[in-house]
Amino acid sequence: MKLNESVVIKTASTDDFSVIQSIGCKTYREHFASIWSPQGLEEFLSRDFSDPALQKSLSSPQHLWLLVQDSRSSVVGYAKINWDKQEPISGIVGAELQKIYFSASATGRGYGSKAIEHIISVASKRDQAAIWLNVLTSNQGGQRFYANAGFTSVGEVQFDTDIAKIEMATMVRRLTANNSFKPKPLRGSA
Ligand SMILES: CC(C)(COP(=O)(O)OP(=O)(O)OC[C@H]1O[C@@H](n2cnc3c(N)ncnc32)[C@H](O)[C@@H]1OP(=O)(O)O)[C@@H](O)C(=O)NCCC(=O)NCCS
Repeated sequence: MKLNESVVIKTASTDDFSVIQSIGCKTYREHFASIWSPQGLEEFLSRDFSDPALQKSLSSPQHLWLLVQDSRSSVVGYAKINWDKQEPISGIVGAELQKIYFSASATGRGYGSKAIEHIISVASKRDQAAIWLNVLTSNQGGQRFYANAGFTSVGEVQFDTDIAKIEMATMVRRLTANNSFKPKPLRGSA
């Protein structure tokens, strides 16, 4: 089956509360359940996706939530950006890409690259000096994805789950007047 190539990236509002809550918990469980105990995972998810936490964040001008939809308007992924946040290693203040997750069935098709292009554009218009993020050092695919989008590693920070101590790479993409980034075209599924 060939994937239709259109993609919609939408700024989420409080109206999208249930959709964000659902895709946020689903994608995290799909990709990262193994680094938590079952109870630790639920507690971690509730930090961002409990009803009060998510309502507050969706209403805050300091946070941007994006929904990524395929050509049939199905939600395939989402991202969360925190504005004007200090990156802990170099100290630069910019947009923290706190979350970018796609359903397991939607990865590797070009949606993430389209989303990053959009995020770079929005962050540039907001005069952010950089975009930065933390990615598990074990997440080689994620690091390759960010490197392809112009991010470079500036160091490592530790992240503790309830069952493991994990290294995370901090990656930064400085934003300048010329932020051209050409994403790969969307790829069809086999
Ligand atoms: C990382 C992620 C956001 C990238 O989005 P994507 O739509 O899969 O990426 P694209 O199709 O635009 O680009 C593909 C590139 O991303 C990288 N990649 C990372 N994870 C991947 C995955 N699970 N499947 C395929 N490609 C992946 C590869 O470098 C790939 O390039 P390659 O084909 O040349 O090797 C997405 O794969 C994802 O949600 N992964 C799981 C959750 C995650 O790791 N989030 C980031 C946490 S910091």
